[in-house]
Amino acid sequence: MVRKLVAAVSFAVLSASVAVGAALAGNGGLGPPAPQTPSGEAISRLYWIVFAVCAVVFVLVEGALIYFIVRFRRRADTPAEAEGPQVHGNTRLEIIWTAVPAIILAALAIFTFTQIPAVQARGVENEQRLTIRVEAHQFYWEYRYPGGETTVNTLYVPVDKPVELELTGMDVIHSWWVPELTGKMDAIPGRMNTLRFVPETTGDFEGKCAELCGIQHAFMPTTVTVLEEADYASTLAAQQEQLALGKATWEGACATCHGLNGEGDVGPAIAGNGTLSNRDGLETLLQNGQNTPQFDYYMPPVGRGWPPEQLDALIAYIKSSKTLSTAPAPTTGGGG
Ligand code: CUA
Repeated sequence: MVRKLVAAVSFAVLSASVAVGAALAGNGGLGPPAPQTPSGEAISRLYWIVFAVCAVVFVLVEGALIYFIVRFRRRADTPAEAEGPQVHGNTRLEIIWTAVPAIILAALAIFTFTQIPAVQARGVENEQRLTIRVEAHQFYWEYRYPGGETTVNTLYVPVDKPVELELTGMDVIHSWWVPELTGKMDAIPGRMNTLRFVPETTGDFEGKCAELCGIQHAFMPTTVTVLEEADYASTLAAQQEQLALGKATWEGACATCHGLNGEGDVGPAIAGNGTLSNRDGLETLLQNGQNTPQFDYYMPPVGRGWPPEQLDALIAYIKSSKTLSTAPAPTTGGGG
């Protein structure tokens, strides 16, 4: 009996310590990544405190369960049909097991509410914020800056400056999520959601679309590049160079479905396609997409909301690329 009890307790302790190891690894995927903003810190704090409370409750409840199973099991010398003592109700016990969880849940709720202002980066004056419009498309992110600049998939922000994102969806619902910076926020057509954070560390922070939005949902990453204040304007300006903007637009808006060299992926091969060199035809296609029965492929209206210079930049980039602007040489022997 003692040996079985020891085995049961060892098993429980062992299981708990395995879980603790995995949980403390954090970046292994069980917890939030190392936070790089006050919002991220608030989310991490909230996560780990709630986790700790749940872990203690889990160990106590499961420990009690295992103890009772072992302690009150049927002994070898008890007849199989014997019944244990018949007990009806225990008011004090019932009050305790109702009140204690209620108190724990209320405490967690109050603590959560105290963290919301920090998570949402409230309390920063409007005029100090850098407000950037985020237009989510199938299947890329378009960032529009106060100075009229545009970037695709990479958001550039200066360090220590409060950022306010105004998110909207240009076709279906997407969700912007860069876990090291803050929580996720939906980008919904016809609606403007805001998300604020204050980047405190320079570097590149990876994120992704967190709302299933179509066939290339899994290939809709984004990067937030946090720069020194001194480098910010020049870096953003460099992204506005026609070929740089054209390349970013091609890679984000076109290549995700048609392949980096227009060789085709989930969308058809388009390298050398006449529409690529026909400005009006291309503009109509990008604005409206393609969703008619005579075409096998649905194409989202990827160019919806583009400033005119972005279409110019895309066309300039296509023209500059031999692979994209000329029809591919016929291949022999299959493949292709
Ligand atoms: Cu956009 Cu998933």
